[in-house]
Amino acid sequence: MRKKIYINNNFYKLNQFLKIKKYINIILLLDDNVKKFCLNILYKYLSNNIKNKIILFEIKSGENNKNLNTCINIWKKLIKLKINKDSLIINFGGGVITDLGGFISSLYKRGINFINIPTTLLSMIDASIGGKNGINFYKLKNEIGIIKNPISIFINYKLLLSLPKKEITSGLGEILKYGLIYNKKLWNRIINKNIDNINWKFIIYKSIKIKLSIVKKDPYELLGYRKILNFGHTIGHAIESLFLYNKYPITHGEAIMLGMICESWISKYKGYLNNNEYKKILNGILKYIEIKKINEIFFKYILNTIENDKKNFNNKIYFVLLKKIGKSIYNIEIKKKIIIDSIKVLNNIKKII
Ligand SMILES: NC(=O)c1ccc[n+]([C@@H]2O[C@H](COP(=O)([O-])OP(=O)(O)OC[C@H]3O[C@@H](n4cnc5c(N)ncnc54)[C@H](O)[C@@H]3O)[C@@H](O)[C@H]2O)c1
Repeated sequence: MRKKIYINNNFYKLNQFLKIKKYINIILLLDDNVKKFCLNILYKYLSNNIKNKIILFEIKSGENNKNLNTCINIWKKLIKLKINKDSLIINFGGGVITDLGGFISSLYKRGINFINIPTTLLSMIDASIGGKNGINFYKLKNEIGIIKNPISIFINYKLLLSLPKKEITSGLGEILKYGLIYNKKLWNRIINKNIDNINWKFIIYKSIKIKLSIVKKDPYELLGYRKILNFGHTIGHAIESLFLYNKYPITHGEAIMLGMICESWISKYKGYLNNNEYKKILNGILKYIEIKKINEIFFKYILNTIENDKKNFNNKIYFVLLKKIGKSIYNIEIKKKIIIDSIKVLNNIKKII
């Protein structure tokens, strides 16, 4: 594990870090829920001298605030307050805050120091790690973004105590993905455990280690290997976008689990994955989520969204698929009809188990 990522049940290391660095101002970007549930815990560990330097930038919670308007408002505020490179931005929150805050920090004055303090399981094991920052644009997920790493990441897994169950499940979606693409042991560990008996410190450590070993081989996604992290995301992102402006949006992890079911089915259909492994994957995921049916009138929207996927080239749609649990392959071209068939399978899931 890189030294700059700390996993603890407190914030002593963070206080030490801020004491040494002596930033002039500290901008703490957070949303309303994080302010309500996590700010006191953070402040308990910070010295008065550091607390006095903190300026809170609060935004409304929710994926639909990860947009350009929010960035513009924050950049204007930073300019009005004359925030310079001698200051620090802390992204304190879930993946929405770390994606958005990393993007804002990376572009402001061509880059200002930032650190991440993830507060959801998903941001602890995924969104705050690996340097991808971005915003949704033109109704497309993460369409505009930049790759830049924070100078440090401080994880306090005690913050998970206030996290709603559906958000824990959302994080588990990405952990299951790590298991499916890279590490069968991790998959088995989650599938065979009761959620209340999970050793979070260990699982967070293990998940980050897997993500970093994949990212290290292809940090800017130039070789292609990093794409395996997108398993379940080609269809999952399209489903997430579909529900983004819905009265009842689904979580990122839930959308990715639905995507993983479709993409595992495609893996089976193309002959890469055997039926036994497919059933294990399906039953494993169904332990955590209920199937959301996708009305046929949205199939065109889903295909349009997938046609904008960042993994495409030469006007062809490429997928990450599975050979077995723990082994993935990437850059596999898939025709539109098969994508639609996989969503139809999702809609009929009860019949095929
Ligand atoms: N950059 C990457 O590599 C990467 C990877 C995966 C996902 N993402 C992005 O992450 C985002 C999803 O992240 P998320 O699932 O963390 O969503 P989120 O940031 O919206 O957080 C989920 C909800 O939990 C609340 N919350 C946060 N911490 C809390 C706590 N400790 N206690 C109580 N409530 C708390 C938030 O206010 C929000 O309502 C998506 O935008 C996705 O695209 C990015």
